[in-house]
Amino acid sequence: MEKLKITGGNQLFGEIAVCGAKNAAVAIIPAALLVDGVCRIENVPDIKDVRLIIDMLVQLGASVTYVNDTTIEVNSSNLKTHIAPCDLASRMRASYYLLGALIGRMKKAEVSLPGGCNFGTRPIDLHEKGFRALGAKVSIEDGIVFADAQELAGNTIYLDTVSVGATINIMLAAVLAKGRTVIENAAKEPHIVDVANFLNAMGANVRGAGTDVIRITGVEQMRGGSYSIIPDQIEAGTFMLLAAATGGNVLVRNIIPIHMNCLTSKLEEMGIGVTEYDDSIRIERDGELHGVSVKTMPYPGFPTDLQPQMVALLSTVDGNSSVQENVWDNRFQYIDQLLAMGADIKVEGRRAKITGAKLHGAEVTATDLRAGAALIIAGAAADGVTEIASPHYIDRGYSDIERRLRSIGVKIERIFEAD
Ligand code: UD1
Repeated sequence: MEKLKITGGNQLFGEIAVCGAKNAAVAIIPAALLVDGVCRIENVPDIKDVRLIIDMLVQLGASVTYVNDTTIEVNSSNLKTHIAPCDLASRMRASYYLLGALIGRMKKAEVSLPGGCNFGTRPIDLHEKGFRALGAKVSIEDGIVFADAQELAGNTIYLDTVSVGATINIMLAAVLAKGRTVIENAAKEPHIVDVANFLNAMGANVRGAGTDVIRITGVEQMRGGSYSIIPDQIEAGTFMLLAAATGGNVLVRNIIPIHMNCLTSKLEEMGIGVTEYDDSIRIERDGELHGVSVKTMPYPGFPTDLQPQMVALLSTVDGNSSVQENVWDNRFQYIDQLLAMGADIKVEGRRAKITGAKLHGAEVTATDLRAGAALIIAGAAADGVTEIASPHYIDRGYSDIERRLRSIGVKIERIFEAD
């Protein structure tokens, strides 16, 4: 059995660079299916979810070539099928982007319902509503989503809930549709803007991404081009929260500071020193911290994908804090693991009440990707040794994590034990 072993309790110093954004990459790579030509995509993170989506593109008939560790070229000129490989698609959430991309390009798609982290019901009804509004017939049978259309035509689609996935998927289906599509109550996350910028760089006409109304004018064809993915807002936040929890002085590089505003202001409210530069942020902690109250919201609110890491930090901070999860209905499953490390947390529905405590090492399990990141933070801040089982969840979203964390002083290694 594989585990991450962390010996905690020391402060961190040095610099750590952030990789390309996972949630942008897993949308932009399928978006390359819409392009009749070669897309060169740079700053691609080397993580499991990206390798999985690339495997799926290859099975659909795209050719994908690695130019170097973080640059790929995708050529989708000769797609051979609209049926995504079931076994791979059901392993990750972002496989739903194959639906939008295949409907857009081939006017038909068959993709199994997505898998991914389990933190409550994760419906795709808004994706379906968008595809139907564009003229596609959509049905779900035996866990497979079938969609097909004679022709796709632009329409106005109001999203009843702000949804990252539905916003991106409708953009993908609409860029080659006839006429104008308007997405109202669209999500505004940085990677939505990144996907729109990628599509425009390939010849699409998408306006308003980053606001709550996105307007897409369909084009006949998208040509090839070159694009570099933005830095990962969630990885950046994870490293900032790690440095805040251990203390010391860490420069997080390759960051877009404005994407971090919500976290930065919370850390400052707690008493952590945060200094912003053009493309990096320094985290310094040398005094007492105060508890705070956090509520997760769609961007520009506090990201749900940093909620577990924030709870890990707050469990070490004297006084009382509260964290309200407003996006997912069951995203506190990992808290039992923090309790095993000595944390004092009470969950009441969607709210966690946290009283600061001294954490100690323990044997714990990553229950999902960001929960795993939270346990790394807790383990690095705790006294003694923490062993995290199921690190494969962490590998889905963080590239080469032990080597990069060791470079700022985290005592972390991957161990292999006989089952
Ligand atoms: C994406 C991210 C995920 C993050 C989430 C919220 C990717 C691959 N994953 O997930 O890491 O936690 O955004 O920032 O980018 N909803 C519906 N119907 C739908 C779709 C969503 O009701 O058809 C609801 C969900 O139940 C949830 C809320 O909308 O309560 C937000 O979900 P959404 O933004 O769609 O999340 P994902 O795109 O799945």
